[in-house]
Amino acid sequence: MMSDRALSKTPAAARLRCVGCGALADQAALDFRCPQCGNLFEVFFPAWQTPAGRRALSPAALKATWLERRTSQRPEDTSGVWRFRELLPLLAEGQSPITLREGNTPLYEMPGCARIAGVDFLQAKHQGMNPTSSFKDTGMTTAASFARQEGFRWVACASTGNTSASMAAYAARGRMRSLVLIPEGKISWGKLSQALDYGAVTCQLRTDFDGCVQVLNQVVRRMPVYLLNSVNPYRLEGQKTAAVELLEQLYWEPPDHLIVPGGNLGNSSALGKALLEMKDLGLIAHLPKLSVIQAEGANPFVRAVREHAGKTLIPMQAETRATAIRIGNPASWKKALRVIQATEGTVEQVSEVEIAQAKEEIGADGVGCEPASAVTLAGLKKLVKQGFVLRKDKVVLILTGHVLKDPEFTLQFHRGDLFTGTQYERESAALRNLQHAPLILNPDVDAVVETLKRFEQTDLLA
Ligand code: F0G
Repeated sequence: MMSDRALSKTPAAARLRCVGCGALADQAALDFRCPQCGNLFEVFFPAWQTPAGRRALSPAALKATWLERRTSQRPEDTSGVWRFRELLPLLAEGQSPITLREGNTPLYEMPGCARIAGVDFLQAKHQGMNPTSSFKDTGMTTAASFARQEGFRWVACASTGNTSASMAAYAARGRMRSLVLIPEGKISWGKLSQALDYGAVTCQLRTDFDGCVQVLNQVVRRMPVYLLNSVNPYRLEGQKTAAVELLEQLYWEPPDHLIVPGGNLGNSSALGKALLEMKDLGLIAHLPKLSVIQAEGANPFVRAVREHAGKTLIPMQAETRATAIRIGNPASWKKALRVIQATEGTVEQVSEVEIAQAKEEIGADGVGCEPASAVTLAGLKKLVKQGFVLRKDKVVLILTGHVLKDPEFTLQFHRGDLFTGTQYERESAALRNLQHAPLILNPDVDAVVETLKRFEQTDLLA
């Protein structure tokens, strides 16, 4: 039995703090939960709490150092995560990070989506442009590096697909083995195929994501495997750098709103942690409002905020075609709650049809994303209608996964059978003008020219 085993001390400048009872620790148990109250830990930098410690991190000097590193070819500088290493727990002397040059993702202007949503200026930070095509890579580079430093031969995660793809890749790069637990039948083929390609031992369990988590929590007690789900605080440290990189791209001028999809709620927690830390360190003058959007069928956080005033989260059976966020019992909900409260953001939920429509609208700006990412635009439209986001506000959507992650969703949408036989069939009829099914023609010039003429009359997104 491995249950007594603990991980080694967190690196000197960083400690762990329980988000429930505030207990401080220098090493975590294998499940990364507080032994006193069962809540999650976060990485905490004691030196930043003192004026002298904060002064040592001069905002101007940090910004200059990070910019300068963009001209370097060293792996830890070309990584868009480790480039910001002053804000990260450091690896021990002599250890190098496992990196695939993650981060460095584009910030796109989204003029078509802005018009549709009713705002003057809209941008999307596309975290799907990471090495394994989702935002998970930014956290995996840090957590996998700590796993290797700990001497683990095996890493493991439960996943809706993207975490497993990312973990498998970083494990392979770091010469570790990986164990993946995924819900059978409810992850996209693109993600599953990535885990296979990177050599993960891939188990499809006859349950959902939440069931996979439960099994994995038992496995880590029995076998020497390092847990790489987002309960692992080192993952969130890496993921938080996306917000730092975003602010650098905005010349440190914060937007008014940041809109993030919510599943297990690690990402919103991580981005929010970065915003609060950047504000504390004087890197930014004010906080954007961070809002979390969930699918209606997988909305435990929205309900926790609206129906239970954030006091409790009642797990649910989740159902959505945006399989990445098909999660009923999100691990990091308390961290995410703190973020939306501290930044004065909000929560919103969107329907299956709204998600499908928003995904096409993002595609029509030439960007594209997977369904879970599209909840951001669908949510923004609602927040504008409610007056929570104003027309003049500057808004950034966080797109979390690449359009090629879930091609089946896209093909079904365009063929018109995404919602066939479901309760959404009638409502989805309104989306017909967004569908561009492939046309099967004879190899005949006239047929192609006729088709072209027919389409010349129709406007894009008419
Ligand atoms: N978007 C995508 C594309 C995701 O893969 C996920 C989560 C989320 C959004 C939600 O992020 O969980 O931090 O709130 N995917 C996890 C996985 C759960 O296993 O790949 P979150």
